[in-house]
Amino acid sequence: MSFEVGQIVELSIDSLAHGGAGVGRLNDFVFFIPFTAPGDKVKAEIIEIKKNYAQAELKNILTPSSARAEAPCNVFGKCGGCQWQHVDYKIQLEQKQKTVEHALARIAKEAQFELKKIIPSPQEFNYRNRAQIRTQGPRLGFYSRNSHELVEFKNCHLLEPALNEELGKIRNEIKSYPDCKTSKIEMFLTQQNQIARSNNKSHGQEFGFSQVNTKQNENLQNLVVEVFDTPSEQNNNILDLFCGNGNFSFPLSKSGWDIYGVDLNKNAITQARSKATEKTFFSCNDCLKEIKKLALKGRTFKNILLDPPRIGCQEALLKNLMSLKPEKIVYISCNPTTFGRDWARIKAANPKFKLKWVQPLDMFPQTFHVELIALIELT
Ligand SMILES: C[S@@+](CC[C@H](N)C(=O)[O-])C[C@H]1O[C@@H](n2cnc3c(N)ncnc32)[C@H](O)[C@@H]1O
Repeated sequence: MSFEVGQIVELSIDSLAHGGAGVGRLNDFVFFIPFTAPGDKVKAEIIEIKKNYAQAELKNILTPSSARAEAPCNVFGKCGGCQWQHVDYKIQLEQKQKTVEHALARIAKEAQFELKKIIPSPQEFNYRNRAQIRTQGPRLGFYSRNSHELVEFKNCHLLEPALNEELGKIRNEIKSYPDCKTSKIEMFLTQQNQIARSNNKSHGQEFGFSQVNTKQNENLQNLVVEVFDTPSEQNNNILDLFCGNGNFSFPLSKSGWDIYGVDLNKNAITQARSKATEKTFFSCNDCLKEIKKLALKGRTFKNILLDPPRIGCQEALLKNLMSLKPEKIVYISCNPTTFGRDWARIKAANPKFKLKWVQPLDMFPQTFHVELIALIELT
């Protein structure tokens, strides 16, 4: 069966792909159709054909799935923020669970571990504590899904209420601006419930990284503290790689651990150092360089926490990590694909490591993104 761009096809959607689109098949040829739900029967127009799959655009829903939900946002589908507001939250969670399972099976060829049930987000909406918005003259919005076209909205259903209130203030401030200037504003709700705004030049760089879902981040912090348990006289250090502003370093130090945190972002390290105690030390450096430096000094760490960005860890980092003689590695990831790759690399670097369990968490409801925490131990 051959297909061509512009052709209309009828498809049943069987799952949601990492990236958010619904997946349908005709004679084993895979179609990705955004804004469909598992169980839908749809008509879609083919817009791009590759060797093994095609991208298609939803034309109409022939039979809606029971997995569908009413999207509360009136710019859903236009704005680039959410992919899954039309999917019932329970189904979103099921799909994320499968994403993690498949990533480990496909990429790491790993089945010998416990995959725990995903922890739902305490809030399905209004959970985000930071946002990047655009203004164009007196107009305010997000960029649209596929272009730099501004999509205006009244309230963003993902943002915490205080941030939506702040948007109202910004609209007021810009209402008499001439319609040519485009700006980017980053807003951030601090732990003290105060709003910080970036200036236009810094684009929020001064904030450094921070977890976007405050309540789910507390669950993640608790899990990290639980998995490292209590320190003993012979075992009391944790190397916190990609530590950011010390999001996990401080809860761990409170339960008695000495923390050696490393992050490349100066602002994050400055924030961490401003809260430092005698149990925490922070180095502003590239993690690989710091590992090499520590190894040259003959330092060892039985416990390592890894929380890299979406791209995961460099292969050299995971190889060099072994010179620090780790026994327990706790890996936090916002990308199951790079986690799968990195776990395979850790195993290749030392086959005595075992993946004990993986716990997915929903940090980003209404989007396809999924977070996980995994325990890797020497056997
Ligand atoms: C996913 S964030 C985690 C931050 C922190 N653990 C938290 O929970 O807030 C990843 C962090 O890695 C840092 N980073 C990225 N590449 C790095 C590198 N090569 N060396 C050190 N830090 C790096 C970023 O600055 C960012 O703070």
